[in-house]
Amino acid sequence: MDLLYLSRADVDSVALDMPTIIRLLETAFGEKGEGRVEMPPKPGIHTQPDAFLHAMPAYIPALRSAGIKWVGGYPGNQRLGLPYISGLLVLNDAETGLPYAVMDCTWITAHRTGAATALSARYLARPDSQVVGILACGVQGRTNLQALATVFPVKRVYAYDVVAEAQQKYVAEMALQLGIEIIGVDEPRQAVVESDVVVTSGPILQHPHATIQKGWLPPGAFASAVDFDSYWHPAALAQFDKVATDDHDQFSHYRRLGYFQGTPNPYADLGEIVAGHKLGRERADERTMAMNLGLAMDDMAVAPEIYRRAVERGVGTRLPL
Ligand SMILES: NC(=O)c1ccc[n+]([C@@H]2O[C@H](COP(=O)([O-])OP(=O)(O)OC[C@H]3O[C@@H](n4cnc5c(N)ncnc54)[C@H](O)[C@@H]3O)[C@@H](O)[C@H]2O)c1
Repeated sequence: MDLLYLSRADVDSVALDMPTIIRLLETAFGEKGEGRVEMPPKPGIHTQPDAFLHAMPAYIPALRSAGIKWVGGYPGNQRLGLPYISGLLVLNDAETGLPYAVMDCTWITAHRTGAATALSARYLARPDSQVVGILACGVQGRTNLQALATVFPVKRVYAYDVVAEAQQKYVAEMALQLGIEIIGVDEPRQAVVESDVVVTSGPILQHPHATIQKGWLPPGAFASAVDFDSYWHPAALAQFDKVATDDHDQFSHYRRLGYFQGTPNPYADLGEIVAGHKLGRERADERTMAMNLGLAMDDMAVAPEIYRRAVERGVGTRLPL
């Protein structure tokens, strides 16, 4: 009995493509919308202010995927030259329960979160969305834009970060990678007021800095709040015609913990929308938002495909159980 260990470099080298990740998430959310996914809200421990270590189990029968992610998010790590997000993911055989793979979860967390934004946007944003605002030019700022560019005809991006060097690096890298115009801006407002799609991807804070004010986001635009409500003033949140989330139970769980005190109740979760039980965008002038909190199911939708491709290519290290 053994398992396959995939290091961060191993997972990187598999380089699963974004359209496949979005497709896998769409299948998983469709299953969730029909009540066919087992996923308890994530428990966590908190060893530093605004930091977390979360246990995230999920079982998706249609994808024969069962497992758990044990993931940390530490805002102070940037100062230490360490990643904000780190952790491990274990896949278990659905018949026997035996673990058959352990992998670094950094790549998967980065990419499935971007894919969840793009999937939400496919249902909630205008299909002709061309201008994207990115507030926080880190890992999520990158993968969210990559995913959006696979679904929408993105032509221009306004990018903002509190750290000037992070912003400059982002502008250079993403312009080269995607071949689109990326404009670094000095004020958060400039990344919002002309955008069709806005992604906020800074630190998650229990007490939001609430920088984005009422009236900044144009009618007809879509926003993805990867960093929860940290960036949005309650009056700006109140202007949305539709706020969706990825899981009602998890949203309520976080609200009980003290988050989302100024956020309207989500009208739908992404599973309900993908399964067709709730409508996405109905009018061109609606302001819509995805407040996706990140689900274990997102990871378990993608991890078995990474495992399969790693096995095919002979990537990874066999370890005895
Ligand atoms: N919702 C989800 O599913 C999900 C999943 C993964 C990560 N996250 C969250 O996404 C966020 C970003 O993660 P990451 O891996 O990209 O981190 P990262 O460290 O790579 O990037 C964070 C960036 O934010 C910048 N920043 C800090 N404060 C800012 C502000 N007020 N305005 C603009 N920029 C600011 C930093 O300079 C840095 O460039 C974290 O809050 C993380 O917890 C959410």
